[in-house]
Amino acid sequence: MNPDNYLLGRGGAEVERLKRQIVMLASDSDTQLDRIGIKNGERVVDLGCGPGGVLHLLAERVGANGSVLGIDRSNQFAQLARRFVTDCGLPQVEVREGDAYNTRLPKASFDGAHMRLLLVNLPQPGRIVHEFVSLVRPGGWVASFEADYVPHCFDPPLPAWTRLLDAYSAYAQAQGIDLSVGRHLHRLFRDARRSRYPSRRDHSRLPNRPRASLVPIRPDWQCS
Ligand SMILES: C[S@@+](CC[C@H](N)C(=O)[O-])C[C@H]1O[C@@H](n2cnc3c(N)ncnc32)[C@H](O)[C@@H]1O
Repeated sequence: MNPDNYLLGRGGAEVERLKRQIVMLASDSDTQLDRIGIKNGERVVDLGCGPGGVLHLLAERVGANGSVLGIDRSNQFAQLARRFVTDCGLPQVEVREGDAYNTRLPKASFDGAHMRLLLVNLPQPGRIVHEFVSLVRPGGWVASFEADYVPHCFDPPLPAWTRLLDAYSAYAQAQGIDLSVGRHLHRLFRDARRSRYPSRRDHSRLPNRPRASLVPIRPDWQCS
């Protein structure tokens, strides 16, 4: 495995933040996943799933006949994610410890691949995108949900926030991490696609799909 470079660490505060994130970003992720048109029975992978992330949102779309594989670098987070999907009653989800740079999963073995807020926390995002794209069969789908810190500012400026953001940016930069990776996603995916299919033209499309109902999340995973 690559060295563990996760920007935010894995202390108790990060675990709690990621549990809140399951709920806080569910609606945005629902909107994104609805646009993909994920089909019942599909086999999908989620890289950097954290203690739950979107595993339940993917599981409800692939249904009982499909499967979701969550991968996380952290054994602790993988265990939390297993508890989360057990609590949600989702036997179609499996969670494994693994490295997004080199998953060791069979190439072209998934109908779809998803990741959320992984690239903004790790160096060399292009390597991850390359691995990510390689996991999906020709004609399958890939979806990434990423951040860009450009709108994280106040007018008039708030000095305490500016100091915090400057320190965070300097720390990220020292780790080789790009807090603006969101704006580079199209290029990263185009590059990965070109290296996989050198002779194909780009004809990406986003089919519509009706909004699905949410799998209920147990109250202890909700925001306090
Ligand atoms: C910001 S969290 C996002 C979690 C989840 N995707 C979500 O959106 O709630 C990033 C996750 O990536 C995991 N991670 C960090 N480095 C990784 C790597 N090399 N391979 C797989 N997962 C990794 C972390 O342990 C963490 O769970």
